[in-house]
Amino acid sequence: MKALVLAGGSGTRLRPITHTSAKQLVPVANKPVLFYGLEAIAETGIREIGLVVGDTQAEIEAAVGDGSAFGLQATYLRQEAPLGLAHAVLIARDYLGDDDFVMYLGDNFIVGGISDLVERFAASRPAAQIMLTEVGDPRQFGVVELDADGRVIGLEEKPAQPKSDLALVGVYLFSPAIHAAVAELKPSWRGELEITDAIQWLIEAGLRVDSSVVSGYWKDTGNVTDMLEVNRLVLESLEARVSGHVDEASELIGRVVVEPGAVVERSRLVGPVIIGPGARIVDSYVGPFTSIGAGCTVSGSEIEYSIVLPRASLEGVRRIEASLIGHDVEVTPAPNTPRAHRLVLGDHSKVQISS
Ligand code: TTP
Repeated sequence: MKALVLAGGSGTRLRPITHTSAKQLVPVANKPVLFYGLEAIAETGIREIGLVVGDTQAEIEAAVGDGSAFGLQATYLRQEAPLGLAHAVLIARDYLGDDDFVMYLGDNFIVGGISDLVERFAASRPAAQIMLTEVGDPRQFGVVELDADGRVIGLEEKPAQPKSDLALVGVYLFSPAIHAAVAELKPSWRGELEITDAIQWLIEAGLRVDSSVVSGYWKDTGNVTDMLEVNRLVLESLEARVSGHVDEASELIGRVVVEPGAVVERSRLVGPVIIGPGARIVDSYVGPFTSIGAGCTVSGSEIEYSIVLPRASLEGVRRIEASLIGHDVEVTPAPNTPRAHRLVLGDHSKVQISS
């Protein structure tokens, strides 16, 4: 069995971060979200993974390399444009050969791993097995209709009148039967080859499509709100560890991780919080559910429930909440004009100002 990990896409919902970086590499508790998925795949015993990549190929390759750090053998499969999840299967045809495979969306986050699902699939070998979760508003998702035995009888992408509240989760198991389905697809109204259409094709061809409802937690980290929520969840299971330097005048409350080379002076850190290697926290407050990346500076500032990417600096700003701050960003007060905001914002930035 192989794994097909989707790490391309356009990432429009996470702009401007995705103008310069792959969304699958946005860190959750200072570790790229993609790595949690790769660990879950390695845990199943699968060794060969094909990584579907687009414009951010170089960055993904620099982070994952040959996969050996995860116990995996990685092959990179270039997708010229993000033409849909089923298009990713199409371009991976030769790599996948006649093997069964698990398809994993590289920005999805699942607690509890996928080993049980993979075992169940290997034991009963349906044409496809999909994972479902109950959602509040199914109209934003791929929605699935089941019969009394849990077999899938129909799928609809973002229906106006959903037939159930069960949405598709970003992990799919396929037998090689999927290739015939994918080869027949035509682009949908949004110009993509849809995996829901391919699965519907299998059902109409009389093949068996099984489903299981996810018991654990699942999130698609495609937008900032969900990214912050996953960061909160991972930080919840943090164990306190201080490997950097914390001075006498600082106070660490609850589960706080201070990585090697980080310095904390005259500051109050209320966990769960992680401070990355080489970061400097001076005269500041860092509140619960915050991840500060490697080499950041937080000075004379207050921040809570946020993700700060490597080398960003916050100097003299209070107070930042529920924010995602990119690499090398600088946030400072406006000089001599205390009631004015001075902004240099990249395309598609989003700023909410408290005035
Ligand atoms: P999505 O989040 O559905 O799509 P996207 O990355 O284009 O994001 P947005 O909606 O914000 O513009 O994709 C799910 C995952 O699959 C994600 O990790 C990107 C990846 N992907 C590909 O690798 N190739 C593709 O053609 C598509 C559509 C997605």
